[in-house]
Amino acid sequence: MAEDLIIVGAGGFGRETVDVVEAINAAAAVPSWHLCGLVDDALTARNAERLRARGLRHLGSLEDLLARESRPRYVVGIGSPSVRRRIAERLDAAGFSATTLIHPQATLGSEVTVGAGSVICAGARLTTNIQIGRHVHVNPNATVGHDTTLANFVSLNPSSSISGDCVIEDGVLVGVGAVVLNQLTVGRDAVVGAAACVVRQVAGGSVVKGVPAR
Ligand SMILES: CC(C)(COP(=O)(O)OP(=O)(O)OC[C@H]1O[C@@H](n2cnc3c(N)ncnc32)[C@H](O)[C@@H]1OP(=O)(O)O)[C@@H](O)C(=O)NCCC(=O)NCCS
Repeated sequence: MAEDLIIVGAGGFGRETVDVVEAINAAAAVPSWHLCGLVDDALTARNAERLRARGLRHLGSLEDLLARESRPRYVVGIGSPSVRRRIAERLDAAGFSATTLIHPQATLGSEVTVGAGSVICAGARLTTNIQIGRHVHVNPNATVGHDTTLANFVSLNPSSSISGDCVIEDGVLVGVGAVVLNQLTVGRDAVVGAAACVVRQVAGGSVVKGVPAR
């Protein structure tokens, strides 16, 4: 039987996550998920209309979700690593458990592990011996090379490329189209700007951009 699922965040990535859920269900003989709806504390009129147009339910705020008696599975469909961390910590403390969503058109090679709450989108390519932590977002067409670790709450934006033997620490955001060269560490909560090329270690908490990234 399909399990109940709630997505937190009805913005762009939240609704892209709906696509991942729908693709998983469409590829299975029996649908895996019953999407109850989306939770959003600050639903805009535009996003409300977008939900309506797709026949998706807005289930109220995070507080409304926390006040429920039932404990459906969840993912946080919000791109910001820090916001995602805050929400996941509250939900986990209240007894909710996150699930992992992997689009059937993503490819995962050998010895790839993916933690709870992570969302891997269509076109993502992950090769071999890769550890992905909890609540990691791998956006469309992002690639991750061999022997790399993505820690918890990492966001790889679309078409970013992480080379082999890298460590991407907790809470890092890698911007759209950015590249991290092999054997490098990007420190906790750092941001790599869109289209940057990272050629040396990135200190935790820093923002780097450009080619080479500084
Ligand atoms: C790098 C980044 C984090 C900087 O954000 P910010 O601190 O708010 O910076 P600002 O927008 O104020 O820009 C500051 C300066 O950096 C420049 N800049 C911004 N982003 C840049 C980038 N990716 N590469 C090179 N220069 C950039 C701006 O032009 C500006 O230059 P100026 O001071 O000469 O005018 C952000 O621009 C970025 O690239 N984020 C990733 C976004 C992304 O992936 N979006 C896709 C979502 S799916």
